[in-house]
Amino acid sequence: MSKKTCIIGAGFSGISTANVFKQYGFEVQVYEKEKEAGGVWASCRRYPGLGTQNTRDTYHLSDLAPLKSHPEWPKGEQVQEYFEEYINQQKLRPLIKFNTTVISTKQESDDTWIVESKSEDGVIHTEKFDYLVICNGIFSTPSIPKYKGIEEFVENGGRVCHTSEFTNKEDARGKDIIVIGFGKSSCDVANAIAPITNKLTQVARSVVWKLPKYVFGVNFKYLFLTRMGENLMKYKTLSGFAKFLHGPGVGVRNFLLNRVEGFVGRKLKLKKLPKLQPEKSFEAIATSNISLYTDGHFDKIRSGEINFEKSEIIKLEPKKAYLKNGQVIDTDIIICGTGWQQVVPFMEERLQEKLYDENGDYLLYKNQIPIGIKNMSFNGYHSSFFCPTSSEIGALWIAEYFTKGFILPLDDKLRKDTDERLAWSKERTNGKNSRGTNIIPFTFHHIDDLCEDMGTNLSTFERFNQWNLPPSPLAYNKIIKSKIKIFKEERSKYYFAS
Ligand SMILES: Cc1cc2nc3c(=O)[nH]c(=O)nc-3n(C[C@H](O)[C@H](O)[C@H](O)COP(=O)(O)OP(=O)(O)OC[C@H]3O[C@@H](n4cnc5c(N)ncnc54)[C@H](O)[C@@H]3O)c2cc1C
Ligand SMILES: NC(=O)c1ccc[n+]([C@@H]2O[C@H](COP(=O)([O-])OP(=O)(O)OC[C@H]3O[C@@H](n4cnc5c(N)ncnc54)[C@H](OP(=O)(O)O)[C@@H]3O)[C@@H](O)[C@H]2O)c1
Repeated sequence: MSKKTCIIGAGFSGISTANVFKQYGFEVQVYEKEKEAGGVWASCRRYPGLGTQNTRDTYHLSDLAPLKSHPEWPKGEQVQEYFEEYINQQKLRPLIKFNTTVISTKQESDDTWIVESKSEDGVIHTEKFDYLVICNGIFSTPSIPKYKGIEEFVENGGRVCHTSEFTNKEDARGKDIIVIGFGKSSCDVANAIAPITNKLTQVARSVVWKLPKYVFGVNFKYLFLTRMGENLMKYKTLSGFAKFLHGPGVGVRNFLLNRVEGFVGRKLKLKKLPKLQPEKSFEAIATSNISLYTDGHFDKIRSGEINFEKSEIIKLEPKKAYLKNGQVIDTDIIICGTGWQQVVPFMEERLQEKLYDENGDYLLYKNQIPIGIKNMSFNGYHSSFFCPTSSEIGALWIAEYFTKGFILPLDDKLRKDTDERLAWSKERTNGKNSRGTNIIPFTFHHIDDLCEDMGTNLSTFERFNQWNLPPSPLAYNKIIKSKIKIFKEERSKYYFAS
């Protein structure tokens, strides 16, 4: 008997889930609301200047090495090119319904799922599934502030949009533009369009540390995309060398971070730009989102090509923005790099209630499964340092869980563990934990944890190497293939017969 799985979204999480589930023998249907796969990297969401923060060797899936023609830091369209190549190579295209938005998911009394989707022509389709995996992206639905006066501003020809909606650079030519925020999206967009605007003002209410691609001449991947880099930050439990680093060796750890902070300050010439000097120490870089420095950005602020205001908009009037610091800025377009909402609008209300705790954080055990809802999982609800790999191992964990490769504790225990993790993440990030989905910088811990549930991991030698080398997604391929092989040999016949 076949088991049907519905996957919502064709970004890295959806595509990796589809590929793993296909190999397990599930019948897979992926719904993607856009005309192409790629999610964050699709042309409809690519702002000018978008590229990866990861180096190419740490940002790909385990069945396909990065494309040789791509540079160390691929551009947005190159990641999309990789996607196309991957989908074709793994023969996933027939599994994806493009231009099709999932509008509702309802669970029947026998725990199956009824999924309603709307295609481009407006026709609504209904299909029944055994399993549901939500991969709709935690950085997929924009969050835009509701400024006072916004309607009048727009009625008079002004435009307010999110960075992910500002996909045509030429729209900026000759215009007065405000970019809001100091995250990676805002800094990239401001830097990319400033040269063709009439005037560009970047308005940020707070500034955070930015990390140059090279630190002391060394590619940042050897410093921060390694187990050593991750363990410089304090995880919720400490063991092995991490215990030393945060115990007797804390002086060494502080020395290393202070040295990096000193380097970054000098490299970005922060003394000459006091308004860009973060208030917190460098290690705060790991509290919510690590952000690579956008090459040339601070130079443009220094030269006046970008007017930087550490402030926020208090109201809009036609063609004008009023800032809290008293400045009034002429503006045609306001581009908000103001982050994202983590929402599942298609989920029935009855089940939505089970999804969140009293703070509105997702009650997902190990960032994957909702407690008390059967035959359903999330993938990608863990913003990490190398998302394709965490999503691929996430997909394997879900397939193993659904096919009873391991059994989880009872719901009470899942809830207790999840509450503890959420409380820790809220405290660690000062509340900026993207509704509990933020695991940065602890990607190795997250992946190890999922692997431990499945009774597998890379060899001790390979993990030891990851203390000073970035992870190769290719190394995880053998874990995935071996789990699939075991399933096929030992459980598949009984599982699909039931
Ligand atoms: C601009 C940007 C750059 C990033 N760069 C990096 C990086 O360099 N390194 C890194 O590790 N991480 C990075 N990230 C994090 C990034 O989110 C992940 O790396 C990864 O691409 C996310 O994949 P995903 O599949 O989980 O989500 P997404 O890529 O957001 O994909 C979700 C998909 O679901 C679809 N969808 C949503 N709702 C529906 C619906 N109702 N019906 C049908 N389809 C639906 C969307 O159209 C989308 O295609 C970046 C994030 C952003 C926003
Ligand atoms: N590969 C890449 O190059 C790349 C590019 C873009 C994004 N990303 C990743 O994608 C994720 C999201 O990044 P992002 O830059 O889109 O968003 P982000 O990191 O969440 O940054 C949001 C910014 O908007 C500000 N902000 C939020 N709400 C605001 C409001 N109401 N008024 C004024 N300012 C407000 C925040 O300020 P406060 O800090 O004061 O709240 C912050 O500066 C991150 O993990 C990032 O690393 C990667």
